[in-house]
Amino acid sequence: MAGKIGISYGSDSPMTEFGGNPLRGGAINPRLFFFAGGVSGAWSVESINTVTGEGLPLVSRLDVVHGEIEKLPPKTEWVLKGVTSNVRYVARAEQRALLARQAALGRPEARRAALIPIKKSSAWWDLPQDERRRIFEESSHHIATGLKYLPAIARRLHHCRDLGDSEPFDFLTWFDYAPEHAQAFEDLVGELRVTEEWKFVEREVDIRLAR
Ligand code: HEM
Repeated sequence: MAGKIGISYGSDSPMTEFGGNPLRGGAINPRLFFFAGGVSGAWSVESINTVTGEGLPLVSRLDVVHGEIEKLPPKTEWVLKGVTSNVRYVARAEQRALLARQAALGRPEARRAALIPIKKSSAWWDLPQDERRRIFEESSHHIATGLKYLPAIARRLHHCRDLGDSEPFDFLTWFDYAPEHAQAFEDLVGELRVTEEWKFVEREVDIRLAR
C-alpha cells in the first residue's frame, strides 16, 4: 500500500501480531502504544515537518491507542508503534528532580501535542553505554535542558527498536502542553537540536497536533 509504513493491514483486518488479540486469548501489553495517522482520532494534525531524513505522508488526524487495537481506523495512512520502558540514562538526582517537577499527560488545558519520531544512527548504537550517557547528558544536557520546561511540557518516551527490525524509528517521543506554552516547546526543541546528541539523529519528523 503506497504511503504506508510499519504495518500494512487492511483497515478491517484484526491486529493479531502486536502482543495478541484479546478476543483470541492473547495478552494486552500495557506498555504498547499505537499512533495512527489518517482521518480519525482525537488529535487534529496542524503540521508535519521533516527535520532530517525521510518524512511521513500528510494526514489530517492522529489516533493514539493504548494497548491493543482491534482494527485500524478506516483510511489509516501510517501506523507507528512503541513501548514504554525503564530508563537508561537517568541518575538518582535527576530522577528525583524529574519526579518532583513532571506533569502527567492529558491535562484538560493541554490542547497542543507533538509526536516526534526519531531514529539514531548505527554510530550511536555501536557506542558503549557510558559514552552514550556522556553525550546525552554531560555534553548535550538533555535532562538539564528538559527540566527547565517542566511542568509546562508533559512527555512520554516510547521505544521501537526492540519490537523488531522493520520499525522505521527508534523512538516515538510524545508531548502535550497548553497553547500558551507553544513557544516554550519551540525553544526546547531548538535547544536540543543543536546538541552533540542530535548529530546522531538520522531521521526525525515533527508532527504538531491540536484538540
Ligand atoms: C520536556 C522536556 C524533556 C525532558 C524532561 C526529557 C527527558 C528525557 C529523559 C530523562 C530521557 C532519558 C530516558 C532514559 O534514561 O532512558 C530522555 C530521552 C529521550 N528524549 Fe527527552 N526530554 C524532554 C524533551 C525531549 C524532546 C523535545 C525530544 C525530541 C525533540 C526528546 C527526545 C528524546 C529521545 C529521542 C530520547 C531517547 C534517547 C536515547 O535513549 O537515545 N526529549 N528524555
